[in-house]
Amino acid sequence: MKLKSSKQRSISSTRWLQRQLTDPYVIKAQKIGYRSRAAFKLKELNDQFHFLKPGKNVLDLGAAPGGWLQIASECVKPDKTKAQLVGIDLLEINPLPYVTLIQGDFYEEATIDAIRQALNGKADVVLSDMAPSTIGHQSTDHIRMMGLCEAAWALAQEVLIPHGAFVMKLFQGGMEGEILKKLKPRFDKIKHVKPPASRKESSEIYLVALGFKG
Ligand SMILES: C[S@@+](CC[C@H](N)C(=O)[O-])C[C@H]1O[C@@H](n2cnc3c(N)ncnc32)[C@H](O)[C@@H]1O
Repeated sequence: MKLKSSKQRSISSTRWLQRQLTDPYVIKAQKIGYRSRAAFKLKELNDQFHFLKPGKNVLDLGAAPGGWLQIASECVKPDKTKAQLVGIDLLEINPLPYVTLIQGDFYEEATIDAIRQALNGKADVVLSDMAPSTIGHQSTDHIRMMGLCEAAWALAQEVLIPHGAFVMKLFQGGMEGEILKKLKPRFDKIKHVKPPASRKESSEIYLVALGFKG
């Protein structure tokens, strides 16, 4: 499908639109009813490492528009009494059954307090797909992403149960080594994974850490 150029549309947004219209993951997500193509990344990670299971309590950081929450929900099957599923983002997320949603900045103490309250205890799995809005200046984007990763890891250490799992998005290009050094002694197994649904041209990569040592 070729898009007609429009005077109102910039070259980069025409390219983005062109890519969205032809991307097989976008088309598949629309067909199934997933809110984002990112849903397939979590599905592929979980198919490989099996950290999402029925009854698990899951915290999803940077959850909007909700694709990861949909996958987590399919796997943990939350209900009123057992598994808890909590999602937070700067942006509003449309409701999902038995999922607690928090809108707020993860850097603010009030948001962290709301998460602690919603979790009502500990989490078996902490997921973070958080990413800053990039400006294209590599070292600035890198520092911003590093800040989010550090903050996600700080909370994960507090809320994860022993043997829990932590899955987090990173940018490739130096960051992986630093984070790995901190996390390695705290987990039984750590892997860096680029799931097939992650675009080749994107520098994102996922860290999957299993068996939290507490
Ligand atoms: C790649 S998107 C997440 C997509 C999501 N996993 C899904 O499947 O629909 C990254 C998200 O991180 C969120 N984010 C970035 N900085 C944040 C912050 N300081 N606090 C909370 N959320 C943040 C953004 O608002 C954005 O929605």
